[in-house]
Amino acid sequence: MSGAGRPKKTRYQIPRGMHDLLPEDLKYFQKIFDTCDRIASYYRFGRIETPILEQAELFTKGVGQSTDIIEKQMYALKTEGGDLLALRPEYTASVARAFIEKGMEVLSKPVKLWYFGPCFRHEKPQAGRYREFWQFGFEALGERNPVIDAQIIRLFLNILEELKLKNLMVQINSIGDPKCRAHYKKVLTRFLKSSQAGLCSDCKKRLKQNPLRTLDCKNEKCQAIISQGPQVLDYLCKECRAHFKEVLEFLDALKIPYRLNPYLVRGLDYYTKTVFEISCGNPSSELNQPLLSLVGGGRYDGLVKLLGGKDTPACGAAAGIERIADLMKEKEIKLKEEDLPKVFLVQLGNLARSKALILFEEFRKAKIPVYEAFSKDSLRAQLARADRFGVKYVLILGQKEVLEKKVILRDMKNGNQRTFRMGEIVEAVKTELKNNIK
Ligand code: HAM
Repeated sequence: MSGAGRPKKTRYQIPRGMHDLLPEDLKYFQKIFDTCDRIASYYRFGRIETPILEQAELFTKGVGQSTDIIEKQMYALKTEGGDLLALRPEYTASVARAFIEKGMEVLSKPVKLWYFGPCFRHEKPQAGRYREFWQFGFEALGERNPVIDAQIIRLFLNILEELKLKNLMVQINSIGDPKCRAHYKKVLTRFLKSSQAGLCSDCKKRLKQNPLRTLDCKNEKCQAIISQGPQVLDYLCKECRAHFKEVLEFLDALKIPYRLNPYLVRGLDYYTKTVFEISCGNPSSELNQPLLSLVGGGRYDGLVKLLGGKDTPACGAAAGIERIADLMKEKEIKLKEEDLPKVFLVQLGNLARSKALILFEEFRKAKIPVYEAFSKDSLRAQLARADRFGVKYVLILGQKEVLEKKVILRDMKNGNQRTFRMGEIVEAVKTELKNNIK
């Protein structure tokens, strides 16, 4: 994220891994928000925002106790009243909670929701990895048909493409349902145990707690072992295989290129069947080359029930907003220039200043942007500023003009000056701008 100048050592500093979002950053956030909003209304997703703080147990149960997000990264706190709350590390569990708690289960399905806001994970800060980061996400609850999996991928690609990002790569896999996955886990564990000595210390731990997590280990030795091991797609039951096949057929129909990645498992426990990630990278890069993912998602058919709701199949994904904004800056993707004022309002003396204040408000109502420097006194200082802004017109309101209820309109290019009655100046400027500015 950006900074206005050289960072200073000050008494109070921002917590590590967090960042201020400055106007320059928020221009990108706004562009991303507007794009999501437009796409959401086309696909008929309604916006939801949930509290940043939730009961910690919602995430422990929903995301999974043995996941990195919960085990190592969750910011949890005990309130004075003794409640154990957590800053949300992600939105999906909160959306599922709201879906149940707010009675959305009775609505016609799928219930389509989207969100845009900050999440918190106590990770080791590095490029593209923050402790506070923003996500936008789209969730479709109550739909079992694989068409929605493909449509969600299409929707995220549409957003990224509208933001002018290129070389987008979809990686996809199916991790089955709890039943066929349990069988695969057993086979995988047996295989890994036979090669345990070569695994890194993290994978040795994962082998006991969550063997699937060994599959996306970045350690080269582990990758070499795993590449010889059993692959989840070979162990899918008939239903999960058929579901996955249909998702891929829909992707083909939508002309979405994808890579099957048998090692993609994702770090959250609620996933069933389809999992996918979208990254921006070199199309010829290797599958196991670590690329920062922009979007991660998949199906989570068991989550709503796990949290106490009805059996509700669901699918969704979320994207990292800083990662997208950073990439847009890196690729020098231009944002539309905002309409800068073409007029500067100069005032001389206290009486003129208070009239200028009123005039400034009249221009706002007429939707004509105007620069001012009400705290400056001298004509020279104000004209210098007008010059710096490169405005086309300057309005001058001095003592004499106030008494005569007039305003001078000066064309900065040729120096021509005309005087207008105060009550007519807004219309005069409007006409002037319309006629003379292409
Ligand atoms: P996730 O993969 O943990 O999935 O996060 C989604 C996206 O958030 C990532 O692809 C990445 O762009 C961004 N992200 C994650 N952690 C960080 C971080 N520390 N710093 C910056 N960006 C980060 C989920 O959160 C799921 N809830 C997605 C989902 C929605 N699945 C189904 N529905």
